[in-house]
Amino acid sequence: MNIKKVIVIGSGTMGSGIAAQLCNANIPVTLLDLKTEISAKAKKRIFESRPPLLIDKSKIDNIKVGNIDENFDTVTEADWIVEAVVERIDIKHNLYKKILKKRKKESIISSNTSTIPLKVLSAKMSNEDKKDFCITHFFNPVRYMGLLEIVSDKTNDTKKINFLKNFCEDSLGKGVIICKDTPGFLGNRVGVYAMQVAMTEAINMKLNIEEADAVFGRPMGIPKTGVFGLYDLIGIDLMADVLKSFLKELPESDVFHLVAQEIPLVKNLIETGYTGRKGKGGFYRINKKDGKKILEAINLSSRDYSPSKKVDLNIDEKVNLKELVSRNDKYGEYAWSVISKIILYASSLVPSVTEDYNNIDEAMRLGFNWAKGPFEMLEELGVKFFVEKDDQLKINEFIKNLYNKKSETFYGKRQVYTNLETFGKVKQLAKTNKDNKSAFTYEHKNYKIVEFKTKANTLDYDSMDALNKASDKNMIIINEGMQFSAGVNLNYVMDFAKEKNWKAIEKFIHYFQMTCKQLKYSNNLVVSAPSGLALGGGFEVLVQSDYVVSHTNIVTGLVETLVGLIPAGGGTTNMLWRWMLDQESKRDPDFAPQKVFDIIGYGKTASSPIEAMPFKFLLEKDKSIMNRNKLLSFSQDLINEKKNGYKPPKKPTFKLSGSQVRDKMFQTLEKLFKENKILEHGLEVGKKLAFVLSGGNTTIDKELSEDDMYALELEAFIQLIQMEKTQARIKHTLSTGKPLVN
Ligand code: NAI
Repeated sequence: MNIKKVIVIGSGTMGSGIAAQLCNANIPVTLLDLKTEISAKAKKRIFESRPPLLIDKSKIDNIKVGNIDENFDTVTEADWIVEAVVERIDIKHNLYKKILKKRKKESIISSNTSTIPLKVLSAKMSNEDKKDFCITHFFNPVRYMGLLEIVSDKTNDTKKINFLKNFCEDSLGKGVIICKDTPGFLGNRVGVYAMQVAMTEAINMKLNIEEADAVFGRPMGIPKTGVFGLYDLIGIDLMADVLKSFLKELPESDVFHLVAQEIPLVKNLIETGYTGRKGKGGFYRINKKDGKKILEAINLSSRDYSPSKKVDLNIDEKVNLKELVSRNDKYGEYAWSVISKIILYASSLVPSVTEDYNNIDEAMRLGFNWAKGPFEMLEELGVKFFVEKDDQLKINEFIKNLYNKKSETFYGKRQVYTNLETFGKVKQLAKTNKDNKSAFTYEHKNYKIVEFKTKANTLDYDSMDALNKASDKNMIIINEGMQFSAGVNLNYVMDFAKEKNWKAIEKFIHYFQMTCKQLKYSNNLVVSAPSGLALGGGFEVLVQSDYVVSHTNIVTGLVETLVGLIPAGGGTTNMLWRWMLDQESKRDPDFAPQKVFDIIGYGKTASSPIEAMPFKFLLEKDKSIMNRNKLLSFSQDLINEKKNGYKPPKKPTFKLSGSQVRDKMFQTLEKLFKENKILEHGLEVGKKLAFVLSGGNTTIDKELSEDDMYALELEAFIQLIQMEKTQARIKHTLSTGKPLVN
């Protein structure tokens, strides 16, 4: 059996996301809806989506569109038919009847339902047809969410289900967890329960929504949207439908009922069009006052909106659950109440919903982007601590068992849902060094692994130190967090800037340069295996690695100019060198500096390895992989393939035309300034970048070494960081996440 052609029926949010991911895997797909107009619009939406659903926009015509009346015959050719129409059982049943008449024997049919049980969906099917029918529950947005739940039962042909699992793992890059036919499967059963607990406890304990989101967020290893922000993102009306279905499907004895009852405030929000980000707003809304956009938050009791206030919990960036739940304030109480309920609920589902508690954790990781699932949280807190902290706690069999056995390290294997040798599994086996607070180092087989460990994996002196020390062996730089690295830690730099300690900044950036040079010129291979953001300093690590094995969902580029700086960790120099090797540079010595001026000046980014190639952020020798779980083994194979006879690259020399090319760049800048496309500081930053890229005070007949270029980068960086307007840009970005144009 093989999947060469797929039909997706229903071209809404999910159908279009699934079609796009099939397109990303180079599989021809036909997207059908009630009318061709609807599916054609969906195709347009896919093309224009931000963040993009497509890895390579030029492949859009892998998606054909049509309607279920005139184009239904396409079903006869499909190996896999995915149903993603509205959540209505009558509509789904009618559609299956039509599909079963037309489909080719052996083809697989699946539904994307999130709430209807498999046995209900397949109730009217023959036993023969039931064999080929299952649920494939993707998460939104399909390209970016790692989880796919395949729901099957004993009526299924197991071989076929396994085949589908492997296909979705290999070709679509998903973490596939096989689930039993129980309400909400795994991810939503625990994830939606967790959201409801976080919401109802916030209301009971009279926390405001910013406070709840500040606790039920980063401090717990949960994305910063928290609970109310996530509600707005998903859609408050959609959540209400999901809850209704849980109430219908789950027995009243299930404690889910306690947290899923209709909340008058929520009902009112839906009725007044406040359905979340897609509606007029939700728990948060953007209000325009005096031409300015202001983020407002709702008051849970008065229902009035007022400007949202940042809540400072005054804690370290690192997740420390024990400290959090032990706090003697309302935040500690809230955290404990929420975490303890989630752990109790998740553990009550073992073994009836799943025998593998590890699968619950993985579902939370892949489907909700939690850093740790409930069982890992339990292990971190300690079973004894958990049970003895609160004598009101009604512990279940699972916890009682662990407590009686005095098993503190009960966890065992990770990622049991896949046979791949993942980084998550290797970490458990490798010799680990956690002395460095910014990056852990592991020794495995014949290489070392460095994993950045800060918030968004921003880089500081210690991160560089870990890389430097690991370069005595072949090395893989990889991580489990969402981002490879969002760049240099600007808080760290700003702390020095506030004290006007420029020497300390210079020392750090110089060490950054020296470390990256060490990566490049050491006698050992360095493979970077990024996923998520690899920006600024993160990209500078990539560009100075021997190879990049990239997940298809990377966002990469040099964005320093947006905060009033220039790349000074070797990024400017290495990009320049890459472009100087271009054929065009032989003809025109000013080609490369101008090209890189454009790329860095505008802070251009690519949102896939394919988009990264035309910028030369990635090169032909680099690899890209759909399944994040394969990054490590692929990097390891690459090391084994390339290690014999490996020689570090030769050091480049630069012949640049100095003021000749700089004048051209200045003209561009002046034009942009006159047209108001950049402001005063934009002009200033541009000029510094131009100075570096032109080689400074040089002429075309002189040769500059790489070290000369690094020195120019560093000098420009130190000049820029001392400027008030650069500091204003950095402060603004740190507090709002957005660039400041000044
Ligand atoms: P949607 O409302 O965005 O799209 C549904 C599409 O189905 C519409 O384009 C509609 O015109 C089309 N449609 C309706 N009847 C049809 C028929 N008889 N034949 C062909 N097309 C028909 O819905 P969404 O959100 O994409 O959900 C689709 C399925 O995925 C549902 O079963 C839902 O429970 C499930 N799901 C939704 C998630 C989400 O976050 N939106 C997440 C996971 C699953």
